[in-house]
Amino acid sequence: MRRQIHYRDITEIMTLKGAYKKKGRRPVEADLGLVRNASLIVDGKTILWVGPSSRCPEKYKSIPQKSLKGAYVYPGFVDCHTHLVFAGDRKSEFELRNQGVSYQEIARQGGGIQSTVAATRKAKLSELVSTGQERVENFVSQGVTSLEIKSGYGLNEKTELKILEAIKALKRPRIISTFLGAHGIPKEYKSEGEYLLELVSQLDRIKKKRLSRRVDIFVEKNYFSIEGARKYLKVAQDMGFDLTIHADQLSRTQATRLAVELKALSADHVICAKKKDIALLAASETTAVFLPAADFYLHCDYPPAREFIDQGAKFALATDFNPGSSPTQNIGLVGLLARLQMKMTLPEVFVAFTLGGASALGGHSQFGALVPGQSADFFSCTRDWRVFFYDGQNPAVQGVWCEGRKIF
Ligand code: NIG
Ligand code: FE
Repeated sequence: MRRQIHYRDITEIMTLKGAYKKKGRRPVEADLGLVRNASLIVDGKTILWVGPSSRCPEKYKSIPQKSLKGAYVYPGFVDCHTHLVFAGDRKSEFELRNQGVSYQEIARQGGGIQSTVAATRKAKLSELVSTGQERVENFVSQGVTSLEIKSGYGLNEKTELKILEAIKALKRPRIISTFLGAHGIPKEYKSEGEYLLELVSQLDRIKKKRLSRRVDIFVEKNYFSIEGARKYLKVAQDMGFDLTIHADQLSRTQATRLAVELKALSADHVICAKKKDIALLAASETTAVFLPAADFYLHCDYPPAREFIDQGAKFALATDFNPGSSPTQNIGLVGLLARLQMKMTLPEVFVAFTLGGASALGGHSQFGALVPGQSADFFSCTRDWRVFFYDGQNPAVQGVWCEGRKIF
């Protein structure tokens, strides 16, 4: 029998009921669905009922109860864009960048992504799993219940598969893996076309081994071209993979438009997207993913988030956690940057880190809000929503549940 449990005495719960109905578009404070003196009833992995305890239906009165007295309950955070499995670090490169050497210049000198690739190729699977799990725990302790992790620091089949195997071994929150073999063109290949052909053959094996259902590509000068990306992504899509793109990050490559054209789940970074690109995305189901910590670390412009949101786009925030452009796992900092630098409102930041992230992962009907039928992914703490994304570090989390199971 499925385990049912009634969490009662919740000071306030954020259900996101209104935002859920709007699929995360143009959310305002009223869409947060705040309920005081609330009850949350969980049936196995899903939410059965949520609302004021005083209105709890008679038929649920016999369900075992647990008091969450004094707690504020929130939907679990979704981090829909990370590169969490890697070996080594890029501390010295960080120092160089601070002295004025650009991210692109470091890459040209053989540093950047290639240096993490070298370290990751050398690492054992067990090492990647143990460092990866530690990083996962860090996210969970902040209330993250869904986490996307990309491969992309292997750039050869053996290491890409090792990374995907490591991702598969990680436990506790919901983990969604993405194949980012197209993160850079390894030195061993003469042309983009030659490497992309090799990636297509890897896709087949990744699918058979059920290591990933999503494909990402870094479209940028000196990385992958828009034409190469279009061909590659179409093949991946025909094979049944969901698509996402590192789009218009350092220059305008028109990859945001490509994401819309191919009905990709998300276009990520989108800093250099222009008005027309934004209008196209806003009218589509593709989610714009903002990664302001990377912009902060790289001294780049921030994406025109206001324009995306005001035009009615689906949008998400994520850490982009990786050893180069965004070595932080701090959700609180990312949301703070979104408010300070991108003028996002606090309700928008909450929606971006929950329903928005779920949309970017194709899971909005399954998780991201605390409404009946959605996955019971939530966390509790002692502070009210207004103190989040304010001082660069969110309030301490007391408990975290994913699919109804306590994971922290
Ligand atoms: O999202 N843009 C490409 N990939 C990462 C950076 C990876 C790295 O520098 O190691 C990003 O910013
Ligand atoms: Fe990234």
